[in-house]
Amino acid sequence: MSLKEMCPILRFADLGDERGKLVVIEGGEAIPFEIKRVFYIYESDSTVVRGQHANRESEFVLINVAGKSKVRITDGREEIIVELNKPMTGVYIPKMIWKDMYDFSPDSVLLVLASTHYDGSEYIRDYDEYIKEISAK
Ligand code: TYD
Repeated sequence: MSLKEMCPILRFADLGDERGKLVVIEGGEAIPFEIKRVFYIYESDSTVVRGQHANRESEFVLINVAGKSKVRITDGREEIIVELNKPMTGVYIPKMIWKDMYDFSPDSVLLVLASTHYDGSEYIRDYDEYIKEISAK
């Protein structure tokens, strides 16, 4: 499977009407996991690179609910760059995929939905260690 197929762009239901937009994301339906954790990143400026890790257990969906940012995604073989700039689209990132988030616009609010509660020990923050672990599979 290609990296693009492993990390699809998801388009969420827009229930907007003349009163404004409404986007709904239900765990296990619009995204392929039950949501256990939500966090969001804002006031990261355009020079900052965040992420820089892979997760042994967690799956994520990243959505820029305001502004824009980019995410560079790699499995150690292929690399893709996804621009997140619409509140009704997100990108799915499965386990054991390396990601860097960068190019945040001043108004960027990057919402992250996660399949797990936080556990720092399931994060791989060293790229060489990541390559070692995926090569061992
Ligand atoms: P970090 O993983 O570096 O953020 P990002 O992936 O967005 O660049 O997290 C920053 C700090 O916050 C770090 O000390 C771990 C902590 N943290 C939690 O306690 N819970 C969480 O759910 C997250 C994402 C981070």
